Amino acid sequence: MTDDASKPLSASDPSPKRRRSLSYHTANVRNAIVTRLPDVLLGGRLRARHVAQPIELNEYTLASANWPRAFDGLRIAHISDIHFGHLLGPERLAQAVDAVRAVKPDLIAITGDLVDLSAHESPLLFEHLSLLKAHLGVFVVLGNHDHLDHPRSIVRGARDAGLVALTDDSVRAGGRDGLLVAGIDWSKSISGCIDRLRRCGMARADLLLAHNPKAFVGAVDREIPLTLSGHTHGGQVARRANRRHNLVFTARLNAGHYQKGESHLYVTNGVGAWFPLRVNCPPEVAVIEMRTR
Ligand SMILES: [Fe+2]
Repeated sequence: MTDDASKPLSASDPSPKRRRSLSYHTANVRNAIVTRLPDVLLGGRLRARHVAQPIELNEYTLASANWPRAFDGLRIAHISDIHFGHLLGPERLAQAVDAVRAVKPDLIAITGDLVDLSAHESPLLFEHLSLLKAHLGVFVVLGNHDHLDHPRSIVRGARDAGLVALTDDSVRAGGRDGLLVAGIDWSKSISGCIDRLRRCGMARADLLLAHNPKAFVGAVDREIPLTLSGHTHGGQVARRANRRHNLVFTARLNAGHYQKGESHLYVTNGVGAWFPLRVNCPPEVAVIEMRTR
């Protein structure tokens, strides 16, 4: 949800002695002020109340003339913004993983912010995520928080866990005539997302995974039938009557389903958060059934 600029992937291994970026230290201080300190002052009740909120399972059916007929009826489980760390630990992650496994999806999409701050906790994160199975695969892209510490180790951890990590890349899910899945790395701006889409090297795709919903602008130009995103957390605090009236109301694509022509975008509330408050904006796992119009 925060807008820390991306940086090049470092080739070194994460080490406690490694110098971390200014973005990491800024996020760490912010986390201490808005999350850890208030939680300590309230005897742990802030975190306990936050993770006691049920994770909603929200199912949608979307149709597009551009969706390949061979994959009519495909069910995609979409989770995002896990923010593994202080607020969301192994028990809460296990709940989310169980929720996804229960729906037996054909494909699973994880759209970034896997960790909150530190990549050091990622082995435990991927121990849980390795339990996710779908016959067309489990796909991952990075978010801005994944770039705070050591993005390369997160990509490597994902691949070691059997997930397909897409960093400005595309792959056929299900073989040579399979679903063309593209995934772009974190970028803050529309133009940055479009640049990353160009780097994927395909004229179009069937499914685009992008942490930043702004990627939808480029997806519409390429007539991509479905884009899945996170990043905004649905604003975390929203009006009951209109979920798009939320803390990130200035972002045009901030929550839920959007459509332009034959292109759809779903922006999930995500599972985790970087501050322990959600009002009318529950954590969610989304399941999207795609139909060919
Ligand atoms: Fe996030």
